[in-house]
Amino acid sequence: MNFKEAYSQKIELIDNYITFHLDSKYSEVSPELAEAMKYSVLNGGKRLRSILCIEICHMLGGSAEKALPFAAAIEMIHAYSLVHDDLPAMDNSDVRRGMPSCHKKFGEAMGILCGDALLNAAYELISESCEDSSSVQAFKCIAAAAGAKGMIDGQVIDLNVAATNECYLKLLTKLIELKTMALIRAAILTGACIANCDEKIMSDMSEFAYHLGLAFQLRDDFEDIIEDGAQCGDSPNFVNFLGAANAKEMLENHAASAANILKRYDNSEFLSQLHSFLFD
Ligand code: IPE
Ligand code: IPE
Ligand code: MG
Repeated sequence: MNFKEAYSQKIELIDNYITFHLDSKYSEVSPELAEAMKYSVLNGGKRLRSILCIEICHMLGGSAEKALPFAAAIEMIHAYSLVHDDLPAMDNSDVRRGMPSCHKKFGEAMGILCGDALLNAAYELISESCEDSSSVQAFKCIAAAAGAKGMIDGQVIDLNVAATNECYLKLLTKLIELKTMALIRAAILTGACIANCDEKIMSDMSEFAYHLGLAFQLRDDFEDIIEDGAQCGDSPNFVNFLGAANAKEMLENHAASAANILKRYDNSEFLSQLHSFLFD
């Protein structure tokens, strides 16, 4: 099986699991809410965080099956963050993944409530899947990354940071670490927790997440500039701050560091291919 086929199969596995969870748990809720939840999480997307969670667990000798509910929950948290990120009070985006954003399709109030519902659905699934100390550790890791000390504070910094700030570079780095890297790191460490890894491997995985998270955000910044052109000129990101050539070099360095960590591990073939798909 080639990479594209294997990747599609993994996406299908995650999407089927999420569909099953939402259909079985929320069939009685208001139809509009159930529809908005499914629309927002199952409308495409690369499934990067969920696939990282499952594949890191597999690479480290853990059960991918055991990681699946955690991976699905992380994907629901990611989807909620995008629904709220697109709201008029945040990035005010009409389009998400090439389709009308949740609030554009269902209205602003439903956008807020759908995000709330996806977040809680994720924790309901995680809590049902906690059966030992390693899964409780994964639960804590996800909650910390998604919460006020993680992704949410990243969004707050994103709203407030200005290029004129004398600590701009420091804030920009913190913004990326919290807004993007925190959940990617949680996905990777969750896979490692479920595989019952020792401290040394955890530390390796944390370093991998750092390089991958930075490279991934830089990649997203370049994509935004290609898609939005001049509109993106004021966005707080490394491409605008460092210039395209320096940002590209930074992206390549972090992507290479992430790839080098993977090379130390057996069973990293799919992850290496995913890395190439993202960065080559
Ligand atoms: C978009 O994330 C937002 C960022 C934090 C960069 P993704 O690029 O993973 O979004 P989808 O899930 O593939 O749409
Ligand atoms: C998305 O961030 C939201 C979070 C990461 C929480 P961005 O605003 O940078 O991503 P896009 O460009 O909307 O996908
Ligand atoms: Mg946005």
